[in-house]
Formats: sequence, structure tokens, C-alpha cells
Amino acid sequence: MKNGVILYDDRGEVLHAHGGYMLYENGYFYWFGENRTGDIRVSCYRSKDLEHWEFRNHVLTCDSKVQEHYIRSDTRLRKEVTLKDGSKKMGSCNIERPKVLYNSKTKQYVMWMHYENGVHYGDARCAVAVSDKIDGDYTYYGSFNPIGNMSRDCTVFKEEDGTAYFISAARENADLIIYRLTEDYLAIDEQVRILWPGQAREAPVLFKRNDRYYMLSSACTGWLPNQGKYAISDSLTGRWSTLKPFGDKTTYDSQPAFILPLETAGGVEWIYVGDRWNGENYPASTYVFFPLHFNEIGELTLENCEEMDWKKYLI
Ligand code: GAL
Repeated sequence: MKNGVILYDDRGEVLHAHGGYMLYENGYFYWFGENRTGDIRVSCYRSKDLEHWEFRNHVLTCDSKVQEHYIRSDTRLRKEVTLKDGSKKMGSCNIERPKVLYNSKTKQYVMWMHYENGVHYGDARCAVAVSDKIDGDYTYYGSFNPIGNMSRDCTVFKEEDGTAYFISAARENADLIIYRLTEDYLAIDEQVRILWPGQAREAPVLFKRNDRYYMLSSACTGWLPNQGKYAISDSLTGRWSTLKPFGDKTTYDSQPAFILPLETAGGVEWIYVGDRWNGENYPASTYVFFPLHFNEIGELTLENCEEMDWKKYLI
């Protein structure tokens, strides 16, 4: 599979799963991501070999079923937005970086995402949607500001014991905040850490390897790529290392989306999945898949490559 090219699904249509995330279930990789075609917002595809992608569903659209969940959540997927000059414009929501977690207690799939009003980036909210089926029609539970904070680029992380976290950029993207979720994953339980205050890190990606946490992120330059950095910690809420660079000055023309751990015959291999955005023509944005390598003290490097030979990895 080539990096940086438009991918197509089994219907021959362009695969839109930008700013995405993957879940593995019953032999399939499920790929969720942004799709801004018409009123679609989040699409889901699946594959057994990471190369052939079967379209499953537009799991969230502007016409998704909505359900009031918390009194202060806003369940509108379209709303009138007042501009600075006082004029009004109808906006259809802009949904970015959708991530899905499976909650084994409630048997629900819970999607966390970044919500904006579709006219500008001033709402800075997170939003939640829920489904009983991984690729079912998600019910939209609304958007809100976590603990009153602004919330833009985001990701999720689930511990082996099921405890889940939501991580998002706050205070005009200056800070990256880690929140622990409630047991049902539907709300924020507690803000547990503010990372790199004032350093404006975006596109967070969190994973755990050999009992250590790794957070990858980008700097804040809109659609333009920049130098990716990462940090390591023994505890999510404890002290994190300083930020160290990975990849080159543009992270090989990409911004982090998620990390895909692959069980291979030789142990777990870690694949970095990034967006290669096309800021002028968003639907022409593509993806890159790069292997991550770790040295003996756990420092990581990104391998720039033109294509992935998945056969090398899949058992
Ligand atoms: C990027 C962010 C993207 C999108 C874009 C809009 O920095 O990571 O998800 O929000 O800005 O300009």
C-alpha cells in the first residue's frame, strides 16, 4: 500500500477516514475517520489485510439520531452561528479526529471527537456519540466544553483495566489536557494532568509500550506539517520527559492521527498513521503509514517509507 495517495474502498469510492482511529475486532481492522462529503461526518471501513477496505457505514452524519444526555450538552448538528459583524449564518457541524472506544461493561462503542460549528473554530468543544454495534448508526449525545475548557485536537486512550482517558488541546491550543473518563466513557470524571502548558501541542496520540506511556504530538501550524515531537512517562499523571523530535522538520509531510499496534510473529510492531493534509483541497488529503522503531532505552524513530508491505507484518 502506497503512502500519500488517494485510497479507494470496495465500492471504488474515495476512502475518507482523515484524523482517524482504528479498532481491531473479530479479525477485522475497523478504520474510523473524518468524511466531509455532503452531510456525512464520520465514516467507517474495515479490512482483514489493511490493504483492501470494505465500506461499512457513514456512522455519524448531520442527520444522525440525537439524544439528550447531559443537561448542558448541545445536541444540534446544525445551528445558526452569529458572525463578528452580527450577521447570521447556518452552519453544519465540523467533526474532526473521531476516536472510538469499546466499553466492555456497557457493551457500547463510544465515539469522542472535536466539534466545531462548521462556520469557524470558535466553539472548541468535544462531542460524544454512541452505538451498540461497532459500525452501526451512532446516536449523537451532543457537544460540550470539558470542565468548561476549550477542546480542539483530541485523542483517547484505554488502559488494560478498562480505565479510559480523553486528551485534548485547551486554552486556544496552548495546553494539552488529560481527562479520565467516567466508567461508562460518556463523560469526564476528572482532569488529571495538564501537559506542556503554553507549548501549543496538537494532534495528540497516546500509546503504552513496555509499561511506559508515549505521547506524540505536532506543533500548531494548521494544515501545514511541522516537526513532530514525543515524550515518555512511567505514569500518565506523573512526570513526563521533555519533548524530543521524531521524523524530520515536517514529520515526513504528515501530522499524527493514531498508532496501530500489530501483533506479529516476532512480537508487537508499532505503526505510525499520519494525515498528509491538503489544506487547499481537503478531500485530496491522504494518509501515511510509517513503522516506528525503538532503541534499547525506548527512544523512538520514525521510518520514512514510500509504501507498506503489510504481508511482512500480519500473521
Ligand atoms: C490542524 C489540526 C486539524 C485541523 C486543522 C485546521 O492543526 O490538527 O485537525 O483542525 O488544524 O486548520
